[in-house]
Order: sequence, then structure tokens, then C-alpha cells
Amino acid sequence: MSSHPDPAIELSSDPTRLPMSLPLLADKKRLGEPIVMVTAYDHPSGRAAELAGVDLVLVGDSAATTVLGHSSTTPVDLDEMLVLARAVRRAVKTPLLIGDLPFGSYEVSDEQAISTAIRMVKEAGCDAIKLEGGGPAAVSRARAIVGAGVPVMGHVGLTPQSSTALGGWKAQGRTAESAAKIAGEALALQGAGCFSIVFEAIPSAVTQELMPHMEVPVIGIGAGPGTDGQVLVFHDLLGIREGLGPRFVKRYANLLEEMVAGVGAFAQDVRERRYPGPEHGYKVAPEELEALRGRLG
Ligand code: KIV
Repeated sequence: MSSHPDPAIELSSDPTRLPMSLPLLADKKRLGEPIVMVTAYDHPSGRAAELAGVDLVLVGDSAATTVLGHSSTTPVDLDEMLVLARAVRRAVKTPLLIGDLPFGSYEVSDEQAISTAIRMVKEAGCDAIKLEGGGPAAVSRARAIVGAGVPVMGHVGLTPQSSTALGGWKAQGRTAESAAKIAGEALALQGAGCFSIVFEAIPSAVTQELMPHMEVPVIGIGAGPGTDGQVLVFHDLLGIREGLGPRFVKRYANLLEEMVAGVGAFAQDVRERRYPGPEHGYKVAPEELEALRGRLG
């Protein structure tokens, strides 16, 4: 039997909190209020983000590694992303929900990008989409999607979908040339109408140089403290996956350890016949039992 819905799950988070919108996000940048973003991939992680009161939730293509067991982000496809995003949407009411466009779902043409973005909005209920890269093609895709009425978040620096082309999973912008390229890409995405941009794995000092040029909120991951907000992958910050992850990860819990301990304790209880106890069983009236015995002969 599957688990029953917990009535506590139906409680909404703080009803006085306004749902996040693009103008509210822009206000946060203007007022210098740090913006909090986290990834989520299913109903429980979406619910955790909702109850913790974050501002932005990203259904990241990091799902490929965190929940689908791939070794990189490229294998996850649009249909898989839609299933995950729908589950998160059911949990996320107050933060802005952003769906990541997976590799192969937007590179071919502006038309393909618009059609993928629209599916994310119509079929999964996302408020906005994110796409990776700031080269001419990515900027054209961003402009086209914005033109179709879907808000777009850009992503520059280390863009995992193209990590092979970038020379591996490593920080970007460590030479003047590479940093200037990131600056050009971020400005082009901003010019294309992106409402926000992720800076990933960029030296803090380079971020500091770029920030005065950014009019839209910049969310950093491994880009130092100078951005308008920070994002971490749910499984990294809660210690749900093995290994320490990139150097920018800060671990706030060790849930994998707790999960293994919990499943291990259950296994031991079953093997030593401590579970289930009388309190876990259902009762039946003695006369019904008697009648059953009669029927069974
Ligand atoms: O897919 C993802 O989780 C991301 C974040 C790291 C920004 O793109």
C-alpha cells in the first residue's frame, strides 16, 4: 500500500507572503535584499522550498544527476523534465517556478526553443524558463522566447550542458579574455530581455567587476558573495548525494546518512521480527473472525 497523504501537507506556507513576481524580484535587487533560489525535482523538495520561504525554485536539469542517476546533465529529456516540473508545481505556490530547458530541446532553432518553453509553461505550469549559454544562438533563443511571452532566466560561466566544449567541469572567467567573454554574454542576455541571469563558477573578483553593469538580478552559484542572490542544488545543500561536490557547495544537513540509517533500522526490525508491532495492525471483531473460520472450513 502506498503512503497516505499527511494532512499537514495541505497546510499552506505563510499566507501573508506575496507570491514572487518579476516586479517583486526586481524590487529585491533595487533594495539590496538577497534573493534565495534552490532547485527542486519532486513534490517533497518543492514543498520544502515552499515551507522554507525561498524566492525562486528551479526545476534544474541537474535532475539528470541528482534524481535520475546519470553522470552528466545532457541525457535528461523534455518529457522527463515535464514530469518533474509538474510534481514541483503542485507544491510550489509562493516562489517563482522556473523550468530548465534540457539539452537538445532549444538549440536547433528559435521555433524549437519557443515551442519547448511553451510546453514548460502550459504542461507543467512553470512561471518562467532558464536556458544555458550566452553565445549568439542562445541570445537569439532567449529573445525569441521572451518575445513569445515567456520570461527567461539566462545562465553564463560554467554551463554544464556544454562542459565538454568548455574544457571540463571547471571555473570560467579566470583569464581577462574568458571573463570579458562572460561579460559580453551576460550583457547580451540582459539586452535580449532576460529577467535574471545565473553566474556559475566564476571568480568572486570577476563577479565584482561585472555586477555594476547588471541591471537584472544575478543569482550566483560559485560566483562569490557579490551577486544579488544565491542558488544551490537541493541534493548538495542537504547532503542527499555522495561526495562533497564542487568547492562552492555548503552542506546544511546530511540527509543521505539519515536515509541509510532509517532504512537500515527498518531492515533490522523486519529481520529480528520487531516490526510490525501490535500498534501497526488493524483490528477485526471476534465474530467476523469466527465467521471467516466457518467459511474457510
Ligand atoms: O540545473 C541546475 O541545477 C542549475 C543550477 C545549478 C543553477 O542550472
